[in-house]
Amino acid sequence: MSALILRQGVRPLARSTLLSSRPIVGTATLLCRPSQRQFSLSTRRRLQADRPNQASLALKDEVREREERSEGSSTVVGSTGKGVEGPHYQDQIPSAENVLTDTSITGAWTMMNPIYTEAELDTVQVVGRPPVTVADRAAHGTVKFLRKCFDLLTQYKAVEIPQSVLQQNPIPIAELRAKGQLLSDQKWLFRFILLESIAGVPGMVGGTLRHLRSMRLLRRDGGWIHSLLEEAENERMHLLTFMTMAQPSIFTRALVLAAQGVFYNAFFLTYLFSPKSAHRFVGALEEEAVRTYTHCIEDMEAGLIPEWKDHPAPRIAIDYWRLPADSKLIDVIRAVRADEATHRFVNHSLANLDQKKDFNPFALVEANAETRGAKWGFTREESAVFAKEQQQKLVQAVREQTPAHAH
Ligand SMILES: [Fe+2]
Ligand SMILES: [Fe+2]
Repeated sequence: MSALILRQGVRPLARSTLLSSRPIVGTATLLCRPSQRQFSLSTRRRLQADRPNQASLALKDEVREREERSEGSSTVVGSTGKGVEGPHYQDQIPSAENVLTDTSITGAWTMMNPIYTEAELDTVQVVGRPPVTVADRAAHGTVKFLRKCFDLLTQYKAVEIPQSVLQQNPIPIAELRAKGQLLSDQKWLFRFILLESIAGVPGMVGGTLRHLRSMRLLRRDGGWIHSLLEEAENERMHLLTFMTMAQPSIFTRALVLAAQGVFYNAFFLTYLFSPKSAHRFVGALEEEAVRTYTHCIEDMEAGLIPEWKDHPAPRIAIDYWRLPADSKLIDVIRAVRADEATHRFVNHSLANLDQKKDFNPFALVEANAETRGAKWGFTREESAVFAKEQQQKLVQAVREQTPAHAH
């Protein structure tokens, strides 16, 4: 089946299915009437032309041509063909009918929302990128320091419970909690809510600053803004999901307020002066997020959070990740962890790029979930190869889709 049919017929909002033909979990209820819209003829022609030029971010013809000709531009990530910033909105307009009439769906997401298969959720690993430069070390050091403060505040300890204790029947959970070796369900939630209220900041700040830069310099952005805003939206959905399970106390709200006030401004300044370091910092932060959620999942699997045994998934999470209706909380936390692995992968990859020249290699298609789950990120060279491959695949898909007489 061609990729374009897949997009129109099955899951029009998800960019990652653009070139993928694998089945997707939880989409059965989502089948929309195939859209009449396809790539416009002019878009097809542009894609088919596949000119071997080097794209630049400049809007002015003379400047763009100069940059395209200039020496070294061939090394710009995503620059082959026209340079891609993401799918056109016409390519992904879904049939709104389902969303408006199906009362079991509470929301439609106009930004990409991630959907995973079981196998993809299993690929997530705790991996880290060893710091290379001084700035990397500063970013990792800051994250380690923040993590220590955060652990103290939320009474979190990364201790492994010995097998001999786990084999007891029943496991002495109250005792382990009293000793501070285990977090209770409420303490996990407190930690998640604090974590996620901070995590939604960087994508929005990065998106804002790149948006302003694009307008200020009258240059294209290269597809970064949307990925960054998607990340912010994704983190906010994590927060909203956990908020359906616990209403925060005045104390938690005050902490969120203070942390947001400080963190937004600190991150804003960091991104303004060193966007590379800011992305590296987020990559390192997400390494820790994957570690924390992995710990929680292991605790749940070992029966150490009995309050959450067979706890149903919140409705908002079923909608957002398109989970089967009988999903459990553990399925949600596994999806959240896979999202964090994506943020880890994307931010470390973006940190390796030329912040001014390179296109976002994931503007058109994300790396597959296995890669995002098991790898810390792409080097700049890997990003360039990936961007080129995705463009070529799309051009190929369009050619296969287009009847011969339309050429
Ligand atoms: Fe998150
Ligand atoms: Fe995250």
